[in-house]
Amino acid sequence: MSKQVNPCTFVLFGASGNLSRIKLIPGLFRLDAAGRFPAEMKILSIGRGEMSREAWQAEIKGMLDAKFKNGYDQEVYQRFIARNFYHANPPTDPDAFSKLKNALSDEKVFPQNLAYFLSVRPTDFATIVQQLHQVGLTDESKYWRRVLIEKPFGTNLQTAQALQAELTKYLKESQIYRIDHYLGKSAIQNIMLTRFTNAVFEPLWNHHHIDHVQITNNETLGVGDRTTFYNATGALRDMFQSHLLQTMALVAMEKPKDFTPESIRAEKINLLKSIRPVDVNHLHKNVFRAQYAGGRVDVGDGHSEKVLSYLEELKRDGVDSSKTETYAAVKLFVDNERWKGVPFYVRTAKRMHEGNTAIAIRFKKSPIELNGQQQQNWLIINIQPRECIKMEVQSKIPGLDIATRTLSIDAPQRQQGDESIDSYETLLLNLMEGDPSQYLHIDEVLAQWRLVDPIVEAWAKDDTPVHQYPAGSRDPLESKVIFEGQDQFWRYSIELGGDKF
Ligand SMILES: NC(=O)c1ccc[n+]([C@@H]2O[C@H](COP(=O)([O-])OP(=O)(O)OC[C@H]3O[C@@H](n4cnc5c(N)ncnc54)[C@H](OP(=O)(O)O)[C@@H]3O)[C@@H](O)[C@H]2O)c1
Repeated sequence: MSKQVNPCTFVLFGASGNLSRIKLIPGLFRLDAAGRFPAEMKILSIGRGEMSREAWQAEIKGMLDAKFKNGYDQEVYQRFIARNFYHANPPTDPDAFSKLKNALSDEKVFPQNLAYFLSVRPTDFATIVQQLHQVGLTDESKYWRRVLIEKPFGTNLQTAQALQAELTKYLKESQIYRIDHYLGKSAIQNIMLTRFTNAVFEPLWNHHHIDHVQITNNETLGVGDRTTFYNATGALRDMFQSHLLQTMALVAMEKPKDFTPESIRAEKINLLKSIRPVDVNHLHKNVFRAQYAGGRVDVGDGHSEKVLSYLEELKRDGVDSSKTETYAAVKLFVDNERWKGVPFYVRTAKRMHEGNTAIAIRFKKSPIELNGQQQQNWLIINIQPRECIKMEVQSKIPGLDIATRTLSIDAPQRQQGDESIDSYETLLLNLMEGDPSQYLHIDEVLAQWRLVDPIVEAWAKDDTPVHQYPAGSRDPLESKVIFEGQDQFWRYSIELGGDKF
């Protein structure tokens, strides 16, 4: 179901930055190509430096050429480029925002509904909003004005609350769009649809039938040249705090009363609030952290390459020691009737042997024991690299004997001819449509920090040497300490049999 975008001006702060070049400008282009913009829609890019409109349009062309190497439709290009303007906002100019207001006031050029995308440093979010407010550019008495805040929304509960307090001096909650780009992924959106549009899943989706759930985001990449950012952040705050907890919310939430943004968010908030905070008095039974050591990683085509350890990368960049985790595994429980006693193992790591994002649900043992074994079904919702749903079932081996083997029912989500949409495209469109359902409500953000902060604080005080795992390896064996059951193991590849560890 597609909604109508009202004529609006998309105002992009930080337009020359990395995110803008790689995702936002190309994403806007693709939305235009898909016919999603009304004729009047305009894009005003904002940067600190002076630049003519023509020079900026040439920059945009460079971004599109780099992104769409096989070329693009010239008619769409002409339409798109004509929508684009540039405005310089030098930080040293006290009248910069009044000038911005003046530039936008030409109603014949710029529709007055304004969608701001703050693709800038997080320390600039509040200041920009305050300055927009001061010149009346957040006023909604005649037109809508929405502000998209990039991540991270705070670095802990306290800073998230402080940012929220600043923003709400000038904006209503309905004007604030807090992004988690995971929520724009089609495979993530499919979690909720799979659960609630198939009658077969709901009756099984509870502690009577589910043994445990694993939510995994593993990468083969290391930290690269982002050591300063990463060392101040760590796996828990980078990936777990929003992407993985949001994924868990979609897996575990109750059925919303309808599919309106309000109802969906209400159930996600309820779920996030019912996750039991990790007992930091028994930290080592509930969470595990580690850092990658040197090793070899697969670079495709049967080749591997030698890579530095995390600590060596830091040393190269002038940092002598660090306890920051590149591997984090956390055991969580949801305190409600549906999930009574069901562990959720949530893990994320860099420099693993394979890159994969998946939800793996292991069901309880079958009632019948065959050949001394009771089998357990797995349901795997794979997010990337392959988008698919797999169900592993037992089936008779044809022949004279009564014996079973595991078969995998494999449903690729993506079929030939399907559109490939980047998560930012979906979210950019939702912002302009005024659909916040794939954006975070402040209560979700705060609930997530409430779960993360105690672990971060306990780890900061914990002087146990941080475990080292070889780059390109699987989970450290020691991480299995968080498992509740002796027979539980980390599930890897989506291939049959589970490639257990
Ligand atoms: N890159 C990603 O993949 C990614 C992913 C998730 C979240 N984010 C978030 O998205 C936002 C933008 O990320 P990015 O990678 O595009 O950032 P970036 O390239 O470092 O910078 C974005 C813009 O910020 C301005 N800027 C940079 N340094 C500045 C400074 N010292 N003082 C004032 N302004 C400065 C520049 O705008 P001017 O044009 O004015 O010079 C630049 O275009 C950040 O909040 C980031 O956390 C990015």
